[in-house]
Amino acid sequence: MDTKIVEINSESLAAAKKVIQDGGLVAFPTETVYGLGANAFNDDAVKEIYRVKGRPQDNPLIVHLHKDYDIGKLVYGVPSYAVKLADRFLPGPLTMVYKSRGTVSAAVSCGLDTLAVRIPSHSGAQEFLKYVDLPIAAPSANISKHVSPTSAVHVYADLAGKIPYILDGGNSEGGIESTVLDVTGEVPCVLRSGLVTREMIAEVAGDCTVFVPREGVKVRSPGMKYKHYSPDCRTMLFPYDEIGKAKEAYLRAQADGTRVYILCDAACAEQIGVKNILCLGKTEEDVAANLYGKLREGEKVADLIIAVAPEKQDGIMVGVMNRLTKACGGKE
Ligand code: TXA
Ligand code: MG
Repeated sequence: MDTKIVEINSESLAAAKKVIQDGGLVAFPTETVYGLGANAFNDDAVKEIYRVKGRPQDNPLIVHLHKDYDIGKLVYGVPSYAVKLADRFLPGPLTMVYKSRGTVSAAVSCGLDTLAVRIPSHSGAQEFLKYVDLPIAAPSANISKHVSPTSAVHVYADLAGKIPYILDGGNSEGGIESTVLDVTGEVPCVLRSGLVTREMIAEVAGDCTVFVPREGVKVRSPGMKYKHYSPDCRTMLFPYDEIGKAKEAYLRAQADGTRVYILCDAACAEQIGVKNILCLGKTEEDVAANLYGKLREGEKVADLIIAVAPEKQDGIMVGVMNRLTKACGGKE
């Protein structure tokens, strides 16, 4: 199959709509990462997502809606705090997990009685969702376990030959996946951290917990148990206060003839003073926005990426650290 990267216009939207209606897959931009979309009502189309990505069958998908879609068709029992959160943060990088009406394909939620719903703010995503006017099930548009895509070119690198169209909406500004929040309980509970932080949610909802996976406790967001976001090379991860050790590891690797790069923010880059740097930028927002692009850049030139964690560990850095640990922390 020939894969085309296309600008978003009336012609490409019509072509994309036809693919979706016929049960095919289309990649589209969002403000977090690119998504690989299918008609959520079509069982075979949703199953095709798992096949194309090589995704485990028990890791459920998020349904994406345009902002005027009636969410009541898909879910029920929405608590008042979730309505407040939607008013404050949507459209935007917050996914909420509701009680499902079971109207979409059971393959979306892998048989769970809940449904994750997201209303992205990216104008291209909204145009696409409005044009097809269907709930679109979509994971990140990468091969399972690989680094998530933040540009059309990243999607092409993973999925060329497997899907007909990639709608090009430029670089994703947010850079890490949406916050996933369980709103089926009395108090909202963060299942995956992201750019909408626990503090921001608690301020609107009054309270907010964070799910911490523990042995013996049922995993509430099945995606959490898998290795994720990994570049196609060896990796190491050091905390900020071990910059010296990171530098030693770099110098040792270089002496062995290993093509080694340090992945870190601008403050660390200045301190560490080595040649091969993958710099994530200055601000927290830059670090989130550049993380996946730099991991993908790095895997092309490096045998080993040595990541140094940012000094700050709160706010949106919680989400960044979660991704960085899974990408470079070496855990299966
Ligand atoms: O920003 C994003 O959320 C991106 C863009 C494309 O929208 N999508 C994304 O999808 O990151 P994916 O499939 O890579 O991650 C979906 C996450 C997984 O951790 C999954 O376990 C969780 O959402 N999830 C989906 N449905 C769920 C449910 N019913 N209950 C609990 N967790 C759920
Ligand atoms: Mg993903």
